[in-house]
Amino acid sequence: MKTIEEYIKTLSLEEKTAQLYQAAAFYIKATEAENTGTLDDICLSKEQLYNVGSILNVSNVKEIKEVSNLCVSGSTAKIPPMFMLDVIHGYKTIYPIPLAMAGTFDESIVEDCAEMAAKESVAGGLQATFAPMVDLVRDARWGRVMESAGEDPYLGGVMGRAQIRGFRKGGLCSCVKHFAAYGAAEAGKEYNTTDLSDYNLYNFYLRSYEECMKEKPELVMTSFNALNGVPLNGRTDLLIDLLREKWGFDGVVISDYRAITEMIAHGFAEDEEHCAEIALNNEVDIEMVSPSYMHYLPKLVKEGRVSEEKVDRMLRRVLQLKQKAGLLENQCPKANEQKENEICLSSEHRSIVRKAAEKSIVLLKNNGVLPFKKTDDFFVVGDMASEKDVMGSWRAHGKAKDCVSVLDGLKNILGDTLQTDGDIAVACIGEKSYMTGESASKVDISVSKADVDLVKNLHEKGKKVVAVIFAGRPLVLTEIEPYCDAILYVWFLGTESGNAIANILFGNAMPSAKLTMSFPRAVGQCPIYYNYFSTGRPKKKDDYHRAGDYLAAYQDEYNAPLYPFGYGLTYTNINLSSLQISNTEIEENGSLTVSVLAKNEGEYDGEEVVQLYVQDKFGSLVRPVKELKAYRKILLKKGESAKIEFALTEEMLRFYKTKDNFVSEVGEFNVFVGLNSRDCLMETIKRI
Ligand code: BGC
Repeated sequence: MKTIEEYIKTLSLEEKTAQLYQAAAFYIKATEAENTGTLDDICLSKEQLYNVGSILNVSNVKEIKEVSNLCVSGSTAKIPPMFMLDVIHGYKTIYPIPLAMAGTFDESIVEDCAEMAAKESVAGGLQATFAPMVDLVRDARWGRVMESAGEDPYLGGVMGRAQIRGFRKGGLCSCVKHFAAYGAAEAGKEYNTTDLSDYNLYNFYLRSYEECMKEKPELVMTSFNALNGVPLNGRTDLLIDLLREKWGFDGVVISDYRAITEMIAHGFAEDEEHCAEIALNNEVDIEMVSPSYMHYLPKLVKEGRVSEEKVDRMLRRVLQLKQKAGLLENQCPKANEQKENEICLSSEHRSIVRKAAEKSIVLLKNNGVLPFKKTDDFFVVGDMASEKDVMGSWRAHGKAKDCVSVLDGLKNILGDTLQTDGDIAVACIGEKSYMTGESASKVDISVSKADVDLVKNLHEKGKKVVAVIFAGRPLVLTEIEPYCDAILYVWFLGTESGNAIANILFGNAMPSAKLTMSFPRAVGQCPIYYNYFSTGRPKKKDDYHRAGDYLAAYQDEYNAPLYPFGYGLTYTNINLSSLQISNTEIEENGSLTVSVLAKNEGEYDGEEVVQLYVQDKFGSLVRPVKELKAYRKILLKKGESAKIEFALTEEMLRFYKTKDNFVSEVGEFNVFVGLNSRDCLMETIKRI
C-alpha cells in the first residue's frame, strides 16, 4: 500500500485534479450512449471520471459497489472513491427535522439519533454525510430553516457539536455547512444575497460554525450565497484567514453543488477558468459537481496561477480523509448489505426515533383538553391525518411506506375503534413534506385557507379543536389560534411520527419541547428573533400602536411574536421562584452561581427547560436585549421541587467588539432565568 506522500509524488497533475473533484453517481454509471444532457455539460470523458475522488448521491450498497468497481477498474490512479450523502435526519430510519430536534434542548437524544443514522449509513457504504447544517436563521420564509437549529447562535453550536459527536461514534465523517451566513438570505428567498456587518456576522452568524470546530469535523462546506458582495468561494478572509488560520481547521473544505461555477452568474468571475483560479487559491479542496477544476487546474498550475504546492496541500487533505475512512486499504471498507438490512428500521432504531419524536413535539396551547383519556370522545379530521409522508425534506433513503401516520398511531393505541363523531376534533393540518427544504421559500407562511376554514367550522359546530400542525417552519397561526382548544406543533417527526403524536395525545409521553424560532403573528414581522437590538425608541408595552406615536413599532401589528423563542408548554405546571446570585460582581475570568427554585405544582410529572439569558445593559456597541447563555433540562415528579444552578462565567459575557477582539466590558448586566425567553425572573450583576 502506498503512503499519502508516495501518492502525492507519483500522481500526474490530471490524477491529482480528479481527487479534488466530486461527481454525481449517475455520471459514472451513464453509458457512453447516455452521455448526453447534464453529462455533456460537464464535458468529461469516462477516463477522467473514473479517477474521481468522491461521489455523492448513491442509493444503496449494491450501487456503491458497482460504481466503486467501475472507478477502480477503469482508473489509472486506483484510489477508491469516497461516498457521501445528505444524511441530515436519518438514513432509512428517519428522526425529526433538525429544527424540531433542536427544540428538545437535549443533546443526548440528538447525539443518539446521529449515531444511529451513522451506523445505518456506514453499513450502507457511506463514509461522510453533509451535516450538521448550522446556519443561523431568522426568517421562516426561507425553506431551509427546517435544517437548522433556529435563531440562537449558542444553541446552534451545541446542537451542531452533538451531531458531530454522534456521527463520529457511528463511524461517519461530518461536514459543517453552509459556511457562511447562508441562512441570512435576504427576504428569506432561496440562494439570495446576504449583507451583514462584521458585528452581526461575528456575534451571530459565525458563532455556531466556530463552536463546531471544537469537535474537529472532517469537512466544512462553503455556501452558495454572496456575502457583502463576494460569493463564499471567493472569500479569502473567511476561508483562509479565519477558517484555516484562526480556527485552525485542517480538514477538507468542499464547495456546495456547482457553487464554484455559479460565481459566473453571481457576476464575480468571468468564466469557468476564473472560477477555478479563485476557488483553488482559497483552498476549496473539493469541487462538487461543476467541472472547473477538471477543466482548468492543470492549465492554471502550468501558467503559475495556482501553485502545485497548494494543489498538493489540498490533495493531502483529501487523501488523509480517505485514509481515515479506510479507503486507502479497502475499496468499500464497511459496506455490509446484511447489516444494513438488519439495523435499518429495526425495533431498536424505531424506538430511538420515537423517543426523539415525542421529545420534539411542542405544546403551544392547552385549555385542559389534553391529555386525552381513553374514554374521551374524539374524532380525527384533516389532510394530514392519514398522511404517511411525514419525514420532511432531506430524508436520505427514508420511505413514506415505513412511516406511521396519525391515524395509524391512534389505532395502535385504541385498536380499530376510532370514532367518526364526538365532542373533540383532532384536526391534522399544516404543510406537506415538500413545502419546506431547499428551494422551498414562500412569501406567505400563513396556515392555508382550507385549514383555517376547517378549524373555524369545527369550532362553530361546538367542537373542541385539538390542532395537530405539521410544518417544516414556523407558520403564522394567528388566524386559527383563537379557535383551538389545544395546539400541538409536530413539525415533521419522521418514521415514528404517528406513534409519538398518539403517545403525546394520551399522555403516555409528556410534551417538553420548546420553540427555537420565534413564531410571527404576521409574515410582515419577518425577520423576527428574540435576541434583537433595542432602538432609541423601543415600544415597551405590546399593544397596538398609533401612527404618530414615534416609536419603533408597526401600525397594524404587535412587535412581539405570537410565541417567543424558548416557548413550549407541558401538561403539568412547573414554576420558577427565588432567583439568586452568589455574588453581585464578576471580574475578568471570574464566575458566579445563579440559582432558581423549580417546583412542579401541576397534576403530572413533567420535563422543563430552564433557560439562562443575559443582557449587557450598555456597551461600546449596542447589545441584544437578551442572549441565551445556558439551559438545563429538568424532570420533576408531581409535587417535587429542585434547586437549579448555573455557573455564569465572565467568558459568557464576552462578545466580538471587532472580529479579533472577543471581550466583555465593565458595567451592569441583567441576568434572566425563565421557561421561555419572554417570561423571566431578573437580577442585576456588575462586571468589574
Ligand atoms: C445543498 C447542500 C447539499 C448538496 C448535496 C446542495 O444543493 O445546498 O446542502 O449538501 O446539495 O446534496
